[in-house]
Amino acid sequence: MFVRPARSLTIAVAVIAFCFMVSIFEGGLHSYSRNRLSIITAPVHEAPPPPSRIVDFWAKWATVMDKAKPKIPPIKLNRPASVEGSDKATGERAPMQESLGLPEDDWKLLHESHSTLVNAPGFNETNEQASSLFSGAGVVTVAGGPYLPPAILGIRMLRKTGSNLPVQVFLQSREEYEPEICESVLPALNAECFVIQDHLRKDAPFKVARFQLKVLAILFSTFETVLYMDSDCMALRNPAELLESEPFLSSGFLSWGDYWKATEDPVFYKIAGMSDFPKGLPAKSSESGQMVISKKKHLNTLLLAAYYNVFGPDYYYPLQSQGAMGQGDKESFLAAAVVLGNPYYRVKETLGTLGYSDAKGEFHGGAMVQWSAAEEYASANTSDKTKPRPFFLHANLPKLNVARMLDEKKIYQPGTETRIRMWGPEESTRKIFGSDIERMAWNEMRDMACELNDTMKDFKGRTNICQRAQEHYKQLFETETG
Ligand SMILES: *[C@@H]1O[C@H](CO)[C@@H](O)[C@H](O)[C@H]1NC(C)=O
Ligand SMILES: *[C@@H]1O[C@H](CO)[C@@H](O)[C@H](O)[C@H]1NC(C)=O
Ligand SMILES: *[C@@H]1O[C@H](CO)[C@@H](O)[C@H](O)[C@H]1NC(C)=O
Repeated sequence: MFVRPARSLTIAVAVIAFCFMVSIFEGGLHSYSRNRLSIITAPVHEAPPPPSRIVDFWAKWATVMDKAKPKIPPIKLNRPASVEGSDKATGERAPMQESLGLPEDDWKLLHESHSTLVNAPGFNETNEQASSLFSGAGVVTVAGGPYLPPAILGIRMLRKTGSNLPVQVFLQSREEYEPEICESVLPALNAECFVIQDHLRKDAPFKVARFQLKVLAILFSTFETVLYMDSDCMALRNPAELLESEPFLSSGFLSWGDYWKATEDPVFYKIAGMSDFPKGLPAKSSESGQMVISKKKHLNTLLLAAYYNVFGPDYYYPLQSQGAMGQGDKESFLAAAVVLGNPYYRVKETLGTLGYSDAKGEFHGGAMVQWSAAEEYASANTSDKTKPRPFFLHANLPKLNVARMLDEKKIYQPGTETRIRMWGPEESTRKIFGSDIERMAWNEMRDMACELNDTMKDFKGRTNICQRAQEHYKQLFETETG
């Protein structure tokens, strides 16, 4: 299923030629990704229906999760956990004090509910079921509304790496479904839309929103192997490099770390049925903006992570983070793997930060850099002490929605007309990445502003975004070569 760079280039060329052929017929492109034989069909103007085998699978486990619903009132935080000393948090994680102060009766009840899920008949066998439910490898993201433009940027940047991995974009609801984007813009990029709500039965036992969507998008994707990326995250190298090598092949789960030290209350592991605080955990918490996961090895991990998210805001988010920075889904995936004794690889290299310094010399962080798990692993037992190369850029401040960046003046230093190179000077960018990735990203953002100004819901009705993006590119990058 994985394509090597040389082959993927050929495929990319073929896809471009094919899309060109299709577009001259002005037919819906929608059929392309679903059925290569019927080239011309009327646009469908609705999201593709989810495969019923996946809907049934989720309906079954959602019912079990509902039976496993925590039977105590929501957990209250006394105060957010301190992340002081995060810089020095390296090596193995040491347990914090039990600071939520959960009475024994309470955590025992939580434990009982948790067991209802992990001891449900067939729970661990879901991994063996994965091959009949899911297939192939691909990229999954959750987007919609103002998050759709950064997601499309991410897909366009992915194509620049030579990867033609198919992409599934999950929207929360029908209201977020944009027919032109989903039925012609994305299929031309070998990407398609799904609506998360369509996967949930009308009588679904619980509602889902926000952070909870991520694990469901991964579960509902038809791919067996998922590279999940937040809509504001982009791959800088061909993901085949990670998917086809160790440590992914044997672990089936790659996870990256955050800035902050881990702050779970150790009582979480008692609730999860472990007698001791687990050994070998990384000192830092997780940054789940990108993950690679194989359902053949981890479908039960994903189900347990879904449980932690469904009952996250009232129970498992405070148990796993205690209100520390970025509390949400971030710890749920690794925690689930650890609780089930499933393998994982956690990248050791500390994430990097890109940003710029303003006129007063103040630094403004804008993007996180995460490194190649494959290179780190390969050089681990050798004398090679070079750092692994950058693999992902998680550009969260600002989100790379070109229209909003222009309208909200995010392209200038605050209160001035001075244009910003968001990720630092050209020279240092080239040194870290081998090319000026900021220029590459702006090249795509400019083209998106010009191609999609009449199409993308979030771009419509704005003034001259195409010209303004062209001007920004011209002022900052046009004199560059190579
Ligand atoms: C699944 O595996 C976990 C971890 O080993 C175990 O605690 C649980 O009891 C197993 N579930 C079943 C139904 O066997
Ligand atoms: C490096 O050594 C460790 C400990 O012996 C081992 O677990 C790991 O698989 C080795 N890594 C490689 C790339 O050989
Ligand atoms: C979109 O951009 C194109 C190219 O600059 C321009 O011709 C067109 O008028 C723009 N549409 C809107 C609605 O601004």
